[in-house]
Amino acid sequence: NPPIHSQEGTSVLMRENCRAKGGLPGFKVAILGAAGGIGQPLAMLMKMNPLVSVLHLYDVVNTPGVTSDISHMDTGAVVRGFLGKEQLEEALTGMDLVIIPAGVPRKPGMTRDDLFNINAGIVKTLCEGISKCCPKAIVNVISNPVNSTVPIAAEVFKKAGIYDPRRLLGVTMLDVVRANTFVAEVLGLDPREVNVPVVGGHAGVTILPLLSQVKPPCSFTAEETEYLTSRIQNGGTEVVEAKAGAGSATLSMAYAAVKFADACLRGLRGDAGVVECAFVSSQVTELPFFATRVRLGRKGVEEIFPLGPLNEYERAGLEKAKKELAGSIEKGVAFARK
Ligand code: NAI
Repeated sequence: NPPIHSQEGTSVLMRENCRAKGGLPGFKVAILGAAGGIGQPLAMLMKMNPLVSVLHLYDVVNTPGVTSDISHMDTGAVVRGFLGKEQLEEALTGMDLVIIPAGVPRKPGMTRDDLFNINAGIVKTLCEGISKCCPKAIVNVISNPVNSTVPIAAEVFKKAGIYDPRRLLGVTMLDVVRANTFVAEVLGLDPREVNVPVVGGHAGVTILPLLSQVKPPCSFTAEETEYLTSRIQNGGTEVVEAKAGAGSATLSMAYAAVKFADACLRGLRGDAGVVECAFVSSQVTELPFFATRVRLGRKGVEEIFPLGPLNEYERAGLEKAKKELAGSIEKGVAFARK
């Protein structure tokens, strides 16, 4: 199959040349798994992002339709679709940012780890493509279990000799988005005014909201802390159960993924003070990967912030999180080295 250039003709070339000459700002972004539940709304929202000049949509099914549809939006980014493994390299060549929501989602009763067997292989293959075609790209991993797929990606990049830990980020933004929403609900605030750091990882007890560090400063009763922590940790399962077999969070995830990707692009552009939570290679704990607040810049992760003061409840949560996280990281590394 030839690549699907949904916006053919000289006008597209002229626009690209203009951008290449510095006429228009913009980054080249690829979405791998772009025809899926997350991929489609994510593609739509990225097409609306003024920092994106070229948007490549890759999947193993249905990209022609999604690409044709999205390309009719009258926003700046040029959209191209790529279908199937033989077009993966073309989809990735020259990209500044690669977002990976490819893989299967949970059904009721499943944990994120139940997805490991299928998604581990998908992420490995896609990261091999990245190593070859855009080794300097920032990579945002959404595919679950993030606690294992990020270590898999790191191993693939190491094997290819291109690993730069600053450029590999597991997307935990949805946990922050949920935490902001649920905390705002309890406090009676506008969620846009609330910022909750969520650290650890992206599954069950590894999701550790630091309610003692919420901005604006506030306090919670023991019951509120228990309720909020549990709801944030089980937010994904709440959606999986409500969808009753039709998948997991897709719309709120696409929103969170774009919020995070936009932060990465603002960092690449050189904006100051871009700080978000992400699951990254880290020395904040004894584990090789951990989610904390990080500062994003031209090279990706440019600063990793420490956990800050934790209360007793959070210290106990941290121990539980680390125990589970250690196993998930080890599982990813073992898979990739096998
Ligand atoms: P979906 O099944 O609707 O879409 C996945 C897409 O990936 C499909 O279009 C499929 O064709 C594509 N795909 C499968 N194999 C591929 C390959 N080898 N190369 C490229 N594309 C491939 O699933 P959905 O709901 O979009 O979820 C995607 C992933 O995101 C799941 O693993 C899910 O668990 C995860 N997720 C992560 C969250 C997070 O906070 N990090 C939150 C919600 C979901």
